[in-house]
Amino acid sequence: MPGNSASEGSGRRVGFAIRPIRDGDEAAVAELWRACGLVRPWNDPLRDIGSARANASSDIFVVVSGEGGRQIAGSVMAGYEGHRGWVYYVAVVPEHRSQGLGEKLMRHAEAWLAEAGAPKVKLMIREDNEAVRRFYEGLRYRVEERTVMSRWTDGNP
Ligand SMILES: CC(C)(COP(=O)(O)OP(=O)(O)OC[C@H]1O[C@@H](n2cnc3c(N)ncnc32)[C@H](O)[C@@H]1OP(=O)(O)O)[C@@H](O)C(=O)NCCC(=O)NCCS
Repeated sequence: MPGNSASEGSGRRVGFAIRPIRDGDEAAVAELWRACGLVRPWNDPLRDIGSARANASSDIFVVVSGEGGRQIAGSVMAGYEGHRGWVYYVAVVPEHRSQGLGEKLMRHAEAWLAEAGAPKVKLMIREDNEAVRRFYEGLRYRVEERTVMSRWTDGNP
């Protein structure tokens, strides 16, 4: 799997850096996802964070500011299952939106996935999140007509 070094600089604003999530970030990242409307009752963000960190083929990257890089302004989860690279939990705190941080996070995840061997990056948008579609289209993503099907493996009906 690719290296996880932090990348300096971020978009149109100085003072931000992207680095992998680290111990102590978990609660702030879960809160970020909640504040950005990305958590559903059936998803446990702390479990997702733990799983992404436990697997060598996935990771979470955060864009941070402040002393020691402790203030988390955004995140992206990236994972490669051997066929495609996937991104989840793309989020930027409202007060730092429209500064290029979302794009920077996406480009960081793409580079990490490409280095891992993923030839293509995919993502899913909830149907009630129409606005964000324009964000991804601006990053040259295009809509693919697919039907997403799923089944719980933990006995959940
Ligand atoms: C989507 C999101 C991560 C974008 O973060 P951001 O830091 O504001 O994005 P950027 O500043 O990098 O924007 C890049 C471009 O996309 C455009 N863009 C960003 N968000 C947009 C939106 N909601 N609708 C339309 N265009 C958008 C911007 O215009 C920008 O282009 P420009 O600045 O050159 O005009 C942020 O709005 C967010 O956290 N949303 C809530 C969580 C969410 O829905 N995540 C996606 C889950 S699939």
